[in-house]
Amino acid sequence: MSKRLIVAIDGPAGSGKSTSAKLVAQKLGYLYIDTGAMYRTVTYLAINNNVLKNKHAIINLAMNSNIVLKFIDGVTHVSVDGNDISEHIRLPEVNLNVSDISTIEEVRKILVDKQRKLAEENCGVVMEGRDIGTVVFPDANVKIFLIASIDERARRRAKEYDEKGVTITLEEVKANLQQRDKIDSTRDVSPLTKAPDAIEVDTSNVSIQQQVDLILGHVKQAAKKEGIELGNL
Ligand code: DC
Repeated sequence: MSKRLIVAIDGPAGSGKSTSAKLVAQKLGYLYIDTGAMYRTVTYLAINNNVLKNKHAIINLAMNSNIVLKFIDGVTHVSVDGNDISEHIRLPEVNLNVSDISTIEEVRKILVDKQRKLAEENCGVVMEGRDIGTVVFPDANVKIFLIASIDERARRRAKEYDEKGVTITLEEVKANLQQRDKIDSTRDVSPLTKAPDAIEVDTSNVSIQQQVDLILGHVKQAAKKEGIELGNL
């Protein structure tokens, strides 16, 4: 297999990771991997099995469930043991609990192993999350850290809920984001933090096209450095 790049995109919820990571992957013809979907899946399983407070049971669920991610028509589809749970993992109840589940070290280890395997098998990935540039792929060729103001992030998430017909106020969305930011960035294991060599991009007042072009610019530089062909870019 020819040599390809690993592009890591990290940042808090609503910073524009998914939107830009998907488009960058599409442009490169690389695999897009949404690692948040994996933590959401374990959270949904914990809720569904009524074991939110039972760490041991949650670790077992993470270990023994066959979590499969498929990216179809711009959407990450998740199935567990053959059941499609793509809609369930975006529910407000999952949002409320996912940061706590993500603090469990053993769960992280199981999911990080999965993420590394996916990249190995596919060669050429754009992976988004919280710890991709720091822990999952500290040697990623391109590391991007996206940020945006809390008001802009809340506005983006509220719009997504609205489009799905979920009733939730802007204040509730904002409070949930702030709570998740706090847990995600202060946890002991793999906290949300910018890798020293990551490029920080504030997306508050930047169009999606500008974000994508900026990231692709860094990808082109990395490809040149590695002597990697990027096809029609
Ligand atoms: O990207 P997202 O909002 O779907 O992620 C959901 C949660 O999963 C997020 O609040 C923290 C956790 N997460 C993580 O801890 N590490 C990752 N690599 C990705 C997500």
